[in-house]
Amino acid sequence: MDYRAFADEKIAEIRESVGDDLAINALSGGVDSSVVTVLGHRALGDRLKTVFVDNALMREGEPERVCKIFAEMSIPVECVDARAEFLDALAGLTDPEQKRNAVTNTFYRKVFGDLVQKTGAKYLLHGTILTDIEETVAGIKRQHNILTQLGIDPERELGYWVLEPLAALRKDGVREVAKVLGFPAKLAERIPFPGPALATRIVGEVTRQRLDTVRAATTIVEEELADSGAFQYLAVLLTDKATGIRNDRREFGQIVVVRCIDSVDARTATAVELPWEKLHRICERITAIEGVNRCLYDLTPKPPATVEYV
Ligand code: XMP
Repeated sequence: MDYRAFADEKIAEIRESVGDDLAINALSGGVDSSVVTVLGHRALGDRLKTVFVDNALMREGEPERVCKIFAEMSIPVECVDARAEFLDALAGLTDPEQKRNAVTNTFYRKVFGDLVQKTGAKYLLHGTILTDIEETVAGIKRQHNILTQLGIDPERELGYWVLEPLAALRKDGVREVAKVLGFPAKLAERIPFPGPALATRIVGEVTRQRLDTVRAATTIVEEELADSGAFQYLAVLLTDKATGIRNDRREFGQIVVVRCIDSVDARTATAVELPWEKLHRICERITAIEGVNRCLYDLTPKPPATVEYV
């Protein structure tokens, strides 16, 4: 595929669809929403408002990192603090589908609904990719950024139209578009990160404390595996606990799972055979996190597993 021609075509399509109206998009800092942000800005300039929604489920330092990268590209991004809304919506929920729905509904109905009303935007630019659509249609997973499959008709229920310029591409294609758009490597090569963020990596209830634990583990995994060349790597907090020993005392502690996979487009995946030395180092650092006394490495391919745990 000629990705430069694809980008030009999408820019023209966005410009034509939005006409003289205003559009809005949410930037998560992942490559999909970043590509949509740049296509949208090239099409609409300051008639596209880009927001970064801090949903409390982000990786360490993410809001600052994302806003800085886009400031360097002269694209203004407004940071919206919606941490309390998301944490309230997730409180008490343990069922994976209910948790995903809570994040999706809070995002599209509450936070975005308010923003659309406030700004008068008529269009939402969305980073949905083909894999999201296929897996949702096949019932494999409810992707957070798929609205119709969640029973939401954006035009009727939320008052805005949705444009999905990347809906024909998979992850590898999106990275190619990122390259022709001149993205800095630190952005084009970022590993995938799901819309519902760390909520997909906490089995059981999402609380501030459990988020802090999985966030700390995520930082370690991302630091240690940055040079692995893997498609994606992540840390997951389980609800099971196990007995361990800390400071010569028995403690009933938490269990963190590390996952590192190779994949082309996330439809199928295999676990990476990491060197023992690397695994030991990760284990040592993760079990130094307060309350965590076991670290496991997940060898399961997709299928039968999915990449995320929720
Ligand atoms: P799963 O867990 O479905 O993940 O095997 C496949 C790929 O998609 C990412 N993922 C998501 N991305 N919204 C997204 O934008 C979502 O709701 C979502 N759920 C999973 C996941 O990180 C992996 O790369």
